[in-house]
Amino acid sequence: MSRLRSAMSKGQRARFEMVGTTTTTLTRKRSKTAVKEENATNPSSYHSFSEPADVVRLRSQLLSWYDEEKRELPWRTLAVTESDPNIRTYAVWVSEIMLQQTQVSTVKDYYNRWMKRWATVQDLAAATLKEVNQMWAGLGYYSRGRRLHEGAQKVVSELKGRMPRTVDDLLKSLPGVGRYTAAAVGSIALGQVTGAVDGNVIRVLCRLRAIGADSTSPAVTEALWNLANMLVDPERAGDFNQAMMELGARVCTPKGPLCSQCPVQSHCRSYQKVHVKQEQNSKKLLGKLNKKISVPSDIEDCMNAGTCQLCPSEPWDDELGVQNFPRKPAKKAPRVERTLTCVVTRTGEEGEEYLLVQRPNKGLLAGLWEFPSLLLQEENSEVKRKRSLCDEISRVLGARLTESLLQYVGEVVHIFSHIHQTYVVYSVRLKERDTQTQTENTQWLTRPALQDAAVSTGQKKIVKLFDSVDAPKEKTSKDGKRPNSSGRKSDKTLQSSKKARLAAANGGSRQLSLSSFFKTVKEECG
Ligand code: ADE
Repeated sequence: MSRLRSAMSKGQRARFEMVGTTTTTLTRKRSKTAVKEENATNPSSYHSFSEPADVVRLRSQLLSWYDEEKRELPWRTLAVTESDPNIRTYAVWVSEIMLQQTQVSTVKDYYNRWMKRWATVQDLAAATLKEVNQMWAGLGYYSRGRRLHEGAQKVVSELKGRMPRTVDDLLKSLPGVGRYTAAAVGSIALGQVTGAVDGNVIRVLCRLRAIGADSTSPAVTEALWNLANMLVDPERAGDFNQAMMELGARVCTPKGPLCSQCPVQSHCRSYQKVHVKQEQNSKKLLGKLNKKISVPSDIEDCMNAGTCQLCPSEPWDDELGVQNFPRKPAKKAPRVERTLTCVVTRTGEEGEEYLLVQRPNKGLLAGLWEFPSLLLQEENSEVKRKRSLCDEISRVLGARLTESLLQYVGEVVHIFSHIHQTYVVYSVRLKERDTQTQTENTQWLTRPALQDAAVSTGQKKIVKLFDSVDAPKEKTSKDGKRPNSSGRKSDKTLQSSKKARLAAANGGSRQLSLSSFFKTVKEECG
């Protein structure tokens, strides 16, 4: 019996062993699946906490650390200073939606701008979707902004402007609010006593309790929520949940975790495992030198190993250490797409203008604006590409355009969560008479207007590439006007500097005038 197990009280040992005995008997009579199901709802104490005193200690250690180390974040400040529960709930809801799939450092500025403009749910409900999309531009996963807007309108029109006040009602009433978001908003804004399991918390809990089965499986998901609900401090539920997230973001990180700084290290099964393994390995090494040293074999482990739905299905990898947990199934390879696109410009009254087309209201990047574009169905010749792109621009403009006017600019790579997108970029400069068309889904924008428009990060990269082509010759002035666009390079020169331009568009070091416009976001989608 291991040191840890023998340290347990007699009563506990009886309970622990009874679970083990029952399992052994049952395996003879019942199928492995039935046993697995039973273990999932009643995991061995190895994957849980059986001592109330341990839970109390963990809460206190984590919250003391959080009180000392937490980052001051605008939504955290609002959650404690705002006395009106309606505004508080709205403010935390906005923050949680923005924080879905986006890092804290990126969210901060967006959040401050948003709350300055729409301080209450009523303010947001009165905004237009266009304004919301503009505000969201660059943050990625654009359906989130749309759902916030939709939710605000619902609260105003159906709930008399009163934000839901319980986790269940948040979940039921607000579009885009799932189990995690409802729990986070409910605990942080309203003090509801519930755990909240996001990606950071999954990692912390899997490491704490050595949960190594696929972390997206139903059994692990249920076990993690049960753990979170058991651990949450009923007196400070919101702080406890944020402390778990903070620990995952800053200490128990996916790579290079800072175990020596972890306030709950003493509860961590992964950490214990790493150390026992290390001890074993060095003893093994010594054993080879000196045959008298015996190697311990009693690493604390799950009693249900073999039938346990929370134990790893793959062997422990010494090199990974605590990073053996959590385990995710292998990611599906992203779809590879190539899209032809064209920066179409003309000289307007206030300087250079850009032709933008609105995407459909559903699907990827719904409702956002982009340069005229066309998915490349198969790799074909330059001539054919130009022809099909020309057809598309002609359709948008309602006037025939000549292919020879199109100039190749370069390529931009943009990684969405599930698509590896390459934009093959062309440009064309139009004469005024070609350019009359302006429909509901088409608009000509000046440079400053383009800067503020609801366009995705991929489109911003295209502008960056477009600018980099002749930036030295033809600087964009502060007001966004180009003094003269006739100095574009020939196709040949453009081809030869392709590498430099690719680097510029994909995050090269050159400082461009509209730097805030080109703020990069890792990935985005509809
Ligand atoms: N991620 C999700 N919610 C968060 C919060 N309230 N603080 C920091 N990171 C978070």
